[in-house]
This record gives sequence, C-alpha cells and structure tokens, in this order.
Amino acid sequence: MAEEQNTCDGCEAESCEDCPSALENPFAKMQDDTHIRKVIGVVSGKGGVGKSMVTSLLASKMNREGYKVGVLDTDATGPSIPRMIGVAENLKPGSEETIIPAHNDAGVKIMSVDLILPDATEPVIWRGPVISGVIRQFWCDTHWGDIDIMFIDMPPGTSDVALTVFQNLPVDGIVVVASPQDLVETIATKAIKMADEMDIPVVGLVENMSYITCPDCGAEIKVFGESKLEQIAETYGIGTFVRMPIDPKLSVAADNSGLGQVEVEAIAPLIDTFEGML
Ligand SMILES: Nc1ncnc2c1ncn2[C@@H]1O[C@H](COP(=O)(O)OP(=O)(O)O)[C@@H](O)[C@H]1O
Ligand SMILES: [Mg+2]
Ligand SMILES: [Zn+2]
Repeated sequence: MAEEQNTCDGCEAESCEDCPSALENPFAKMQDDTHIRKVIGVVSGKGGVGKSMVTSLLASKMNREGYKVGVLDTDATGPSIPRMIGVAENLKPGSEETIIPAHNDAGVKIMSVDLILPDATEPVIWRGPVISGVIRQFWCDTHWGDIDIMFIDMPPGTSDVALTVFQNLPVDGIVVVASPQDLVETIATKAIKMADEMDIPVVGLVENMSYITCPDCGAEIKVFGESKLEQIAETYGIGTFVRMPIDPKLSVAADNSGLGQVEVEAIAPLIDTFEGML
C-alpha cells in the first residue's frame, strides 16, 4: 500500500496500482515488507578513487553500530561490494517475480550486478536502459525488509545510470569520494551540480588516499601536497569532511572480502552524521 512507503508521503491514491506518481515514476513502488529510512548515494567523479571501499566501510560500520543496513551496488565497472565485504548467502528468488537480497556474514544486505553475473571478471559496460532496468528490479522487486540506512554505490561520473538513480530513487544525501588530485573538479563539476539539480544535500566529503603514514615514525606523508579539503568543504558548505590514508591493510582486506571487519577511525564523523539523520 502506498502509505507504507517512504516515497509516497501524502499520496492519496487507494493503491499503488492507481497511483499517478507510481505510474509516472516506475521506481516509486517497493515491496510491502520493505521500509527504508534513509538512502545515501556514494558518488565519485571517476573510477578507482575508492568509492566502493568507502561504501563498504560506511555500511559495515553502521551495521556494527546496530543499524539495519543495505547496500545497492549499481556500479558494474570494477571490483565491487560483494567481493569487498563478502557474501554469506547469495540473492534468491522470493515469490514469482521478487528477489530476496544477498547478505554477508555480518548481516549487511546486498544487491549487486556482480551477484547476477557471478563469473564476470571483466568490467561490465551495459547500456543505460539495461542497467536502469536492473536497478529498478533491485529497488522495487526486492524484499529488503526494514532498512535503517541504504548505501548506493553509484556509477562513476554523470552517466545515464547515475542520473536514473538520482532522478528515481529517494536519495536523502550524497557522500562524495575523491582523490586529492580530482577533489576540486569532482566537487565543482559533479557533486554540486547533482546536489543543485536534484536538490539533494552533500552530507559528506571523503578525500581518499590523502596521505601515507610512515611505518617508522608515524609521520603523515602527503604524497599529493597540501590537502585542499578543508577549504573546499568550507566553500561549498559541506559540514562533514574526512581524509583517509592509503593503507595497504585496506586494499588487502578489500581483495579478501574482509573489509567488513576493518575499523577505520577516519570515517567516524560520517557515522555521526548518519546517526544524526536517523
Ligand atoms: N585508502 C586506501 N588504501 C589502500 N587501498 C585503497 C584505498 N582506497 C581504495 N583502495 C584500493 O584501490 C582500488 C580502487 O578502489 P575502489 O573502491 O574499487 O574504487 P572505485 O569504487 O571508486 O572504483 C581497490 O583495489 C581498493 O582496494
Ligand atoms: Mg567501485
Ligand atoms: Zn618516518
């Protein structure tokens, strides 16, 4: 029923079948047993900056804090969420046309293109409409159940898919992940544009691979020079911004489905921000 869905506030239709907005917005209807409190889109300007890494860390930490967490992995262009945090049980059919999501051993629920293409070792380049259809299924035809916070690992850039997600899913906030080199450009050309056009606030900014900690003396080595993070966050009014070091422990964990157990102090302010939204 319409009134059970977080996307249907104020809808006066008797059922979703007669709902004008459901007809207009094919993403509006979710399964009756699904209630999602907050949706966070994790975006980057390009691939390889650590978007999936950050999504995995944020989702796993919120899960350890006791929240019910889902991850919707829409980026089929690189190694992704299922490989980084592991899958204890794969997705399976629900009723005839519905899906029960996968979950990892910590209980994070996951839907990912990787799970329907288990043998894909090559990056998948799908045309926009195809992947939009897949995401619609992941959103509407999946029994997510009660989710406190859903993280969406977005495709990089301003592709059709990214726009489809932003235009159709009720994203409450964006977390931007950038490397020190592309921080300025990503914020200026992507994040702020999305935020303005779609009226979605940027709730967090992550400068990933910001520095290396010297294993001998603990000094921060700023491989890419002084960070512009603070200045940029201030310019664009982004309240929560963090720097994540390059840490071999992270990449090893990511390659071995172990990212769910890794504690990264740097993300704590983001976790506080999410808790404030819930
Ligand atoms: N802070 C970091 N320290 C070490 N390795 C990292 C870090 N961030 C990302 N990586 C590694 O870099 C690669 C790209 O990260 P990934 O999250 O897949 O990027 P994206 O999703 O933006 O394409 C992965 O192999 C990942 O393990
Ligand atoms: Mg990725
Ligand atoms: Zn040193």
